[in-house]
Amino acid sequence: MSDSGKDTPGLLILESGGQRISARLQAAFQDAELRMLDSEDAATNGLREAQESGRSCIVIGDQDVILLALAPVLIGRSLGAITPVVTVAADGSRVVPLLGFARGVEALAWRVTEVLGLAQPAVEPLAPRPGRLAVVGLGPGAAGLMAPAVREELTRAQDIVGYTTYVEMAGPFRPDQRLLDSDNRQEMDRARLAFELAAQGRHVVVVSSGDPGVFAMATAVVEALDQSDDPAWRAVDLAILPGISAAQSAAARAGAPLGHDFCVLSLSDNLKPWATIEHRLEQTALADLVIALYNPSSRARPWQLARALDILRAHRRPATPIVLGRDIGRPDERLTVTSLGEIRPEQVDMRTVVIVGSSLTRRFARAGGGEWVYTPRWYGEGSNDAPA
Ligand SMILES: C[S@@+](CC[C@H](N)C(=O)[O-])C[C@H]1O[C@@H](n2cnc3c(N)ncnc32)[C@H](O)[C@@H]1O
Repeated sequence: MSDSGKDTPGLLILESGGQRISARLQAAFQDAELRMLDSEDAATNGLREAQESGRSCIVIGDQDVILLALAPVLIGRSLGAITPVVTVAADGSRVVPLLGFARGVEALAWRVTEVLGLAQPAVEPLAPRPGRLAVVGLGPGAAGLMAPAVREELTRAQDIVGYTTYVEMAGPFRPDQRLLDSDNRQEMDRARLAFELAAQGRHVVVVSSGDPGVFAMATAVVEALDQSDDPAWRAVDLAILPGISAAQSAAARAGAPLGHDFCVLSLSDNLKPWATIEHRLEQTALADLVIALYNPSSRARPWQLARALDILRAHRRPATPIVLGRDIGRPDERLTVTSLGEIRPEQVDMRTVVIVGSSLTRRFARAGGGEWVYTPRWYGEGSNDAPA
């Protein structure tokens, strides 16, 4: 059953102490079902029934208590499905439109104001409640490789912020969810926009591919917070939800090339000097780490991968296995196993992660074609690394 008019409640929950107010509300809204707030259970059950049956409700009582009672039934609801709840202070001095803005709670609050004969409009909008900002990792692309907690966060979000490709990957979304996607690569701009929205009380999700903390949006968001002294930003409920990173998903397809110590390097010199990248390649090659190379190549950075491979060839044998994972977890997925001696830079683009083996990494034929690649967890005889 739903209410016939936006300024007509389906249910009145009245405090036994607030007789004067109660009498006026009862007289004005005679069709509304009446509940006395004589026990916490009665109020809680009444509020929940009202939400579940789509009826709006006026309650004489404390806003926090009411929100707590309703929290379990509100989680997962779309904004349009939350029915209006107006709270009234027991002395009649304050009328608050608490919930149901998408379904006309303001009209009901104004009606209550009139009924109580308040001289001045006493409808007070709530002070903005701190919003939530979640930075989520979508994983490589396949829906099955996205964490359930990320899916849940996306379902509850009001605003979805991110690079257009990733916002599309995160969908589909409902019409009431706002998509703030763009091809803008200014991560800090996006992070600040997300905070602005969350500081207004919105539930915002920022999407990243893979893991949000691996060359992605989580850093920009935390950095934006660090740079801000706005108390409204500090009050935002910030959460980072992890995802499966490209190196992990490509490694799993190939076998277990990351089975021993490994490192992750971005070959992009957009945000750090090329000299730093060369130095790190040199050091990781010397340390005999398996290396996962992200952002290996792009039209704007055509020569860097060839140079990186030359540095690695100076320290590793030509037979060193290399895994090329392209578009892993997406419809055009391609996995190639090659070697340091054979790899050609043109096999690699921006949608590829390159895993370069260590001196221990091995490859062997699979029954159905292709090869398995793995890095043993121990260094052979005399090693202190015992297998688990
Ligand atoms: C800006 S980084 C983002 C990394 C992402 N946050 C992650 O954890 O996978 C982009 C790079 O990640 C790698 N990448 C991301 N998704 C991939 C996928 N599905 N398959 C292969 N490589 C991928 C590519 O090297 C690409 O250039």
